[in-house]
Amino acid sequence: MVGGGLGAYIGGIHRYAARLDNQFELVAGAFDVDAARGHAFAADNFIEADRSYDSFQSMVEGERNRPDRIDAVAICTPNHTHFPIAKAFIEAGIEVICEKPMTTTIEDAIALHDLAKETGRFVGVTYTYSGYPMIHEARAMVSRGDLGKIRVVQVEYPLEWMATGIELQGNQQAAWRTDPKKNGRGGSIGDIGTHAYHLAGFVTGLKAEAIAADLATFVEGRALDDNAHVMIRYEGGARGLLWSSQVAIGQSNGLRLRVFGEKGSLAWHQEAPNELVFTELFGAPKVIKRGRDDLSLETRARTRTPPGHPEGYIEAFSNLYQGFAESIRAKADGREPNASGANVPTSYDGLKGVAFVDAVVDSHEQGGGWLKPKFA
Ligand code: NAI
Repeated sequence: MVGGGLGAYIGGIHRYAARLDNQFELVAGAFDVDAARGHAFAADNFIEADRSYDSFQSMVEGERNRPDRIDAVAICTPNHTHFPIAKAFIEAGIEVICEKPMTTTIEDAIALHDLAKETGRFVGVTYTYSGYPMIHEARAMVSRGDLGKIRVVQVEYPLEWMATGIELQGNQQAAWRTDPKKNGRGGSIGDIGTHAYHLAGFVTGLKAEAIAADLATFVEGRALDDNAHVMIRYEGGARGLLWSSQVAIGQSNGLRLRVFGEKGSLAWHQEAPNELVFTELFGAPKVIKRGRDDLSLETRARTRTPPGHPEGYIEAFSNLYQGFAESIRAKADGREPNASGANVPTSYDGLKGVAFVDAVVDSHEQGGGWLKPKFA
């Protein structure tokens, strides 16, 4: 692991998720931008001292020629560091699990995707919410035509936590997220809008043809957007609306997706992730619960407990790890991944996310007109 040390947020979630299926073992790391703190964290986490590194560069050098070298690295650092870290490990022949947004610039995203293709290295991108079993059920239902042709996609990711200037009050996570050099061009749209955009595309299979965006910065002095509204025209005529906000008081992690077709609709909410609501034309809403035997193979492959025993965020994240492990093994064996490794987010999904942020910021800067994302 690179990053994810003491006081960091997502590194801990990666560690829970990686352990759940016994497919990964944490054996080495450069856990902190401050080397001494990183070593202390490594010792607390039972990492052998000779595999706790001062920096990602020394980790690449230390690991690349070991007979028991790491198979994969998880990159859990702020956005601007993803590209150099991922590139260095790929060039050393090591598979990569990278946080989103994959990079801070479109040029880096293209270069990383190309490098993954050229070298054949696996690059998984942790779009967490595509790990939920009921999201796979929604995708299966759309693809087998239960909703008919899709007309409207509504997706939103509202959060409250940056409703005040916490970046100036010592909040580590908010500090780099409001710095364009570290976060990239898009504030809320890069941080959480990319999750929402990926989720909408993942479930519906639709590709964006054009977007038009309106960004706002409500907290005084903040350099990046903390609220975004984006209209999306999808290929085939469907229309989408995406809202990301870091100033939505009362909202914790209110990611919500609704999809409306000619025959029916689906609704899913991250804070009640075990349920999917399906409504047929003129019918009553039907609640589909996780854990049933009649759900799709992809859904069942990501289901751990029977109906009524709730699963949540950690399990969704671990489904990504299970999928990454299966993808890496399938690649080594020269076969197609099984259902648990099907449709995991990879470098092209990362590239699409960065291209979306770029198009959104360009559209806003040009007065909100329609633009085509460079990759969709
Ligand atoms: P954080 O600020 O809590 O942690 C960052 C960690 O990286 C710290 O331990 C820091 O010391 C370390 N670090 C920074 N530069 C480093 C370097 N050059 N070498 C080694 N370590 C270094 O950040 P947070 O919130 O955990 O976010 C990290 C990444 O995860 C971001 O890209 C963010 O967008 C993404 N993220 C993804 C989520 C998801 O649902 N998939 C949720 C939250 C964050």
